[in-house]
Amino acid sequence: MTTSGGRGFLLFLLLLLLSFLSPVLYYSFLDQKLSLQKYRPNAPQRNISILLWHWPFGRSYRLDGDKCQEMYNTSHCFLTDNTSDFSTADVVVFHHYELSRGLSPLPLHLVRPASQRWVWLSLEPPVNNVNLTQLNGLFNWTMSYRRDADISIPYGKTIPGGAEPGFQFAPNRSCLVSWVVSKYRPQQARAVVYQSLKKYIPIEVYGKWNKKPLSDNKLLPTIANCLFYLAFENSESKDYISEKLWRNAFQAGTVPVVLGPSRATYEALAPPNSFIHVADFKSTADMAAYLRRVAADRQVYEKYLQWHHTHRIKTYTDWRERLCQICVKYHSLPVHRVYQDLESWVMS
Ligand SMILES: *[C@@H]1O[C@H](CO)[C@@H](O)[C@H](O)[C@H]1NC(C)=O
Ligand SMILES: *[C@@H]1O[C@H](CO)[C@@H](O)[C@H](O)[C@H]1NC(C)=O
Ligand SMILES: *[C@@H]1O[C@H](CO)[C@@H](O)[C@H](O)[C@H]1NC(C)=O
Ligand SMILES: *[C@@H]1O[C@H](CO)[C@@H](O)[C@H](O)[C@H]1NC(C)=O
Ligand SMILES: *[C@@H]1O[C@H](CO)[C@@H](O)[C@H](O)[C@H]1NC(C)=O
Ligand SMILES: *[C@@H]1O[C@H](CO)[C@@H](O)[C@H](O)[C@H]1NC(C)=O
Repeated sequence: MTTSGGRGFLLFLLLLLLSFLSPVLYYSFLDQKLSLQKYRPNAPQRNISILLWHWPFGRSYRLDGDKCQEMYNTSHCFLTDNTSDFSTADVVVFHHYELSRGLSPLPLHLVRPASQRWVWLSLEPPVNNVNLTQLNGLFNWTMSYRRDADISIPYGKTIPGGAEPGFQFAPNRSCLVSWVVSKYRPQQARAVVYQSLKKYIPIEVYGKWNKKPLSDNKLLPTIANCLFYLAFENSESKDYISEKLWRNAFQAGTVPVVLGPSRATYEALAPPNSFIHVADFKSTADMAAYLRRVAADRQVYEKYLQWHHTHRIKTYTDWRERLCQICVKYHSLPVHRVYQDLESWVMS
């Protein structure tokens, strides 16, 4: 009796000890396993699959081959536009325009894998992103030109390195200011500034609005004939700087007069001393006088072009290149995130 009772007590003690130790043992085992995984160089890396649910504005590109490897040297990350891959995709990207117009509905009838991330994609300013309320609580990541988007894809950026070979610094120009506009709305800030500015200086206007459209190969040479270009955004929104600045003005080698986000935003994103901001002037008369003064003094004018010696511009136009940014940033993207109020985020 006593011996078997003593044995039973010992067994009880042993079990008690084990039950205290087991989490410690378990976690140290887990630790070891994790560190093994981290440090084993030949461990097979999981492939990440990114599904684009529909192409933006109906224009598709070929996705065969490993585009992101070709463009960014990323490995194990693949783009697909085959909606049959939904159940195995790690990330599904939805472009807002088609969702908002009911042209391509969300796959709410399909079983969404628990670990699958949905990306809300739009390169439009807030005013063009309609019908957002219906999208609350569905998306994990945002993809836009905004710097605070999870995947930030600006229209262009400034990179170190001198100008393209053959770049001409301030050639002789026959015109003072040009502007290209296709959708003119009289109530927009840019239209108000234009109407007022043209009372003081001549402005050459091109584009659909003026029935002087420019073909792709005429656009930059035409703009390059003028000393200044009105890089006026159609909407004054946080971080919204479109190809009007990056391509039309900078790549034509002219000096932009900008209207859009604050001067501080342009200073953060554009090359140093590369633009004239509308908000720098008390009136359009003052602005016109300043443009005339700069135009008359070659040295002052060329100061606005100095940055071409040390910086160049990279523009993004290919949607594949933009999608590859998900691969590039994948491992640093937030793990747990849901946009419960996507509308507030977009409008902020
Ligand atoms: C990843 O994809 C490549 C190319 O399709 C394939 O060869 C490889 O086996 C895949 N790796 C894994 C771990 O699934
Ligand atoms: C591409 O990435 C691999 C590692 O994934 C690296 O060894 C190689 O040097 C990179 N190539 C370039 C051109 O950056
Ligand atoms: C999409 O994937 C499905 C299933 O993998 C396949 O049967 C189909 O041929 C693919 N469609 C295209 C257009 O590649
Ligand atoms: C917003 O959605 C509603 C219905 O969901 C649709 O009738 C309307 O046309 C959409 N708005 C726009 C601008 O497409
Ligand atoms: C620019 O104009 C000046 C003075 O009119 C002239 O001397 C010069 O040769 C011109 N340069 C070019 C590249 O046409
Ligand atoms: C992604 O968003 C969905 C929809 O709100 C949510 O159910 C899911 O938990 C989110 N995923 C992660 C990893 O946070």
